[in-house]
Amino acid sequence: MARSRSRSRRNKPRYQWRCAKKIENSPITVLSKKKIEHIDDIKDILLDILNNTFIPANKKRENVRRDGEGPLRSVTFGQIFCFGKNNADPSGNNKQRYQLSQYSIKHPELHDILFLLAKRLTGKNYKSCCLNDSYRMAKHVDNNNYGMSFIWGVGDFTGGELRVYGENDTYTDYDIRNGLFFDGSVRPHEVLQFEGRRFSMVFYDPNMDLVSR
Ligand SMILES: [Fe+2]
Repeated sequence: MARSRSRSRRNKPRYQWRCAKKIENSPITVLSKKKIEHIDDIKDILLDILNNTFIPANKKRENVRRDGEGPLRSVTFGQIFCFGKNNADPSGNNKQRYQLSQYSIKHPELHDILFLLAKRLTGKNYKSCCLNDSYRMAKHVDNNNYGMSFIWGVGDFTGGELRVYGENDTYTDYDIRNGLFFDGSVRPHEVLQFEGRRFSMVFYDPNMDLVSR
């Protein structure tokens, strides 16, 4: 019994976010203090963090699924659109609203790092971030987003460009490792075939028109 407990402990991700700030020179600490002059300065550190973070399968997001693909590993940090029980304000039960994601509450250091990076890379204070692990999203538009989003990809992969459609079904393919501003709420987009592990982070502002008045 003791042996199996120890084995399962070894299989856990290396970074336990709740205590990570206490670890001197942990990647999170280094990243939060590092002066970023170029995207390449930080991508290896971020990739190390993401490779050791468990991103669970998301059972929603039907609009991006493809037949025959594996689990859609995806979580949202920051503000998320929700409905139903409202622990923060019971009088708001069953009202459509935005509230802080459970992943931001569970992993506050990773939340801070993601939005810090977005601010440094874009100059913008985005409110939400969708973190995806290796899923080839089908063609869709982002109904919950408002305005320009910023997508950034890291990982050891080939292919996986983001195809963004324009007028008359014309399109352009982008390597998201360079970072890309795009209007995903207007322009249909999809992920092309890839090999390897491909992380993408989509920073966006939520569409407040969806919230009950
Ligand atoms: Fe999207």
